[in-house]
Amino acid sequence: MLSEKELEGISEQFKKEIEKIDSEKTLNEIFNRYLGKKGEITCFFGLIKDLPPKDKQKFGAKLNTLKKDFLEILEKESEKIKEKFNSEKLEKESFDVSAPGHKITKGHLHPVTLVRREVEQIFRGMGFESIEGPEVETEWYNFDSLNVPKDHPARDMWDTFWIKDNNGQKNLLRTHTSPVQVRYMEKHLPPIKIIVPGRAYRHEATDASHEFQFHQVEGLMIDENINVANLKAILLNFFRKFFKKDVEIRLRPSFFPFTEPSFEIDISCMVCEGKGCSACKKTGWVELGGAGIVHPNVLKASGLNPKLWQGFAFGMGMDRLVMMKYKINHIKWFNSSDLRFLKQF
Ligand code: PHE
Repeated sequence: MLSEKELEGISEQFKKEIEKIDSEKTLNEIFNRYLGKKGEITCFFGLIKDLPPKDKQKFGAKLNTLKKDFLEILEKESEKIKEKFNSEKLEKESFDVSAPGHKITKGHLHPVTLVRREVEQIFRGMGFESIEGPEVETEWYNFDSLNVPKDHPARDMWDTFWIKDNNGQKNLLRTHTSPVQVRYMEKHLPPIKIIVPGRAYRHEATDASHEFQFHQVEGLMIDENINVANLKAILLNFFRKFFKKDVEIRLRPSFFPFTEPSFEIDISCMVCEGKGCSACKKTGWVELGGAGIVHPNVLKASGLNPKLWQGFAFGMGMDRLVMMKYKINHIKWFNSSDLRFLKQF
């Protein structure tokens, strides 16, 4: 039955239950119990129609106020729960601003790249531009244009990786950076001052100082009167800057088909400073590459008149430079991806 007492009772009961609300779930339960489809207040509304007319309006108004109050109270509770939830979330997410940060491990450049950049910088200081050329070369640029014709015994100096022919054109992985001399001279008139850092490949057995894939740096200087004295001066200047020491160099007579005269470039051993040790096989000297005065046939093959122009070329093992600079005892480390090695640079 709908009576004042009943309504008071329900109001009391509601207030007690409100205190138990501690989550969205209990809040919804209470809402349903009183105001849901089958909730107590909702049911009371259903009873109004059976009341005598004089009570209808009175109870209707009372129930409406009660419903409004309940809704207001529940609304407030819902706000409280949201606030509580947010502050708990914040607490969980909070962090200590004074804690030291996580260190992000950064990568760094490979020693060969470091040396390449340094070499480029030193030569740039002497007016040389750094040029690149293709690693897949044609037989013409790698050999013929460099005065090494087919079937000439000089080809045996390079253990070559031949690869697929292209329209009757023989291709290979370049055995040295020298072909870039011709490629450059074809397109540029002297004065020429370039270096060519890059990879080269030879099909040979590996040991402490040989890999089938390695790095070289080529040098080329062409003008009207460039001679061996210029070559020596440029090399000496380079080595002294590179090693930051009074390095001595030695040009030993040698043979390359594309230079005449030709030399091997030796530098005094960096490990023992020329006294003789295991790194230099007790000679006090270490071989770093080849050099010479560019052969007239190479100038001709590049479209330059050898009567007008002359100059020097050299080719050094970049990996050897790295090994000497950092005193590395085996070339295998360069491509090993071994972090114990790499982290030292
Ligand atoms: N290209 C020669 C080699 O790889 C080195 C060299 C370069 C010699 C330029 C003379 C002049 O063996």
